[in-house]
Amino acid sequence: MPPISRRNALLLAGLGVTGTVAGGTGLWLSLNAGPTPVTGEDLGQPAALRSAGGVLATSLEAAPGRFPLAGRPAGALAYNGGIPGPTLRLRAGEVLRLKLVNKLAEPTNLHLHGLHVSPRGNGDNVFLTVDPGASFDYEYQIPAGHPPGLFWYHPHHHGRVAAQIFAGLFGAIIVEDPQPVPAGAERILLVSDTSLDGAGNVAEAALPERLAGREGALLLVNGQANPRLAARPGERERWRIVNCCVSRYLRLRLDGQGMQLLGMDSGRFQSPSEVREVLLAPGNRAELLVTAAAGESSLRALPYDRGSMAGMAGRGMGPAGPAERDGPADPAGTALATLVVSGDPAAAAPAIPAGPAAADLRSAAVAARRQLVLATPMGAGMGAGMGMMGFTINGRVFDERRTDTTVAAGTVEEWTLVNRSPMDHPFHLHVWPMQLIAENGRPVEPAALRDVVNVPANGQVTVRIAFRDFSGRSVYHCHILDHEDLGMMGVIEVR
Ligand code: C2O
Ligand code: CU
Ligand code: CU
Repeated sequence: MPPISRRNALLLAGLGVTGTVAGGTGLWLSLNAGPTPVTGEDLGQPAALRSAGGVLATSLEAAPGRFPLAGRPAGALAYNGGIPGPTLRLRAGEVLRLKLVNKLAEPTNLHLHGLHVSPRGNGDNVFLTVDPGASFDYEYQIPAGHPPGLFWYHPHHHGRVAAQIFAGLFGAIIVEDPQPVPAGAERILLVSDTSLDGAGNVAEAALPERLAGREGALLLVNGQANPRLAARPGERERWRIVNCCVSRYLRLRLDGQGMQLLGMDSGRFQSPSEVREVLLAPGNRAELLVTAAAGESSLRALPYDRGSMAGMAGRGMGPAGPAERDGPADPAGTALATLVVSGDPAAAAPAIPAGPAAADLRSAAVAARRQLVLATPMGAGMGAGMGMMGFTINGRVFDERRTDTTVAAGTVEEWTLVNRSPMDHPFHLHVWPMQLIAENGRPVEPAALRDVVNVPANGQVTVRIAFRDFSGRSVYHCHILDHEDLGMMGVIEVR
């Protein structure tokens, strides 16, 4: 039986045959059942927890409850009672001690996305499980030379990663700049999506949704629907944006305002560059400088074609292209937040100090070259009933007992990531950042560091990675987290 796109599922739902298709109430049945979102609230900021005396010691309690989402209480999951969880702020060279308390009805654990820290022991070790009712003391030494920037934390318990993030478990981490970037205001914008059922609880996704990668009906910033921000003309604001969505790509625009990109992921540019648009795959971050111009503008997420599982016909072709999967996409996209600029003009903002010169691996000696093939073969046995579609890397689904890739510590490798499927897969490597070298054969200039790189449908990307500072076992995976949960993940050991 061929895979069923969301559009086909909707069509079938309309014909009253959903029971046969999805084996029960699918997510898509509940999309319009939730309460109407409240828009136009003032943008809130998550609580901030800061280091003192070289240490940030705190706890994160993951628990179910009713928390505000889109302006109304929703049945969801939260860290320390808020969606998003608290922002952890610390500096390179400091120690982060986190007690994770699991008050959920299922196992969980914790991952610090993008941080260059040890994957061993009670560090950034995704092989650990924290059972319901249990707690675990994580400890991370942030290296002295760690790049400043925006990172995030989320659960990483294989099989339930997408569902736990979709339900509200995520938060930001900031490694402070050694030299501050002058800005009148700094805002953290954690973009997430979710769907609520008729009772106002976060919905579970049906299998067709998981195969495609679930996209929620609500697109939120810090848990709010289209909140409002105010600024004065000429004011420079720093917006730190994380794409916490499980599967959704964010093609961001802020028309009518000056927008500069200061960096992406942990890669700060030496100087910011003017941009019209920024594409964030799931897991990516952007640091933007916004120079406010009088008037009202909206930060929008425009439609992005990431391909689809159906038809195997390639993106934009065939009857089940992504635009059709969700109905005709609105070319204006979705308003994420509204910036209102009025009042007396602000004084001109001081110059931005230059960032560090980017290390460039293009001239490095390459110790090994590898190819990793991402594919979605039929009959690869994920055993989930419908579809029988496998999510594989080099032909294998994830098995935590198997080591797929062994790397010599201290070396530089070049990896070619090949996508043999009709949809994009955002490839993520833990611990060690990747330098983009080429996309579909075109060289990428200048040097750009990422921890999530998009591998386009039926395309390929080349990266180089310096496996420095740490050894141990960790993972790489597709950051469409439904795909990761379905097995598109591999184990790396650096030794
Ligand atoms: Cu943000 Cu392994 O994940
Ligand atoms: Cu990660
Ligand atoms: Cu994927």
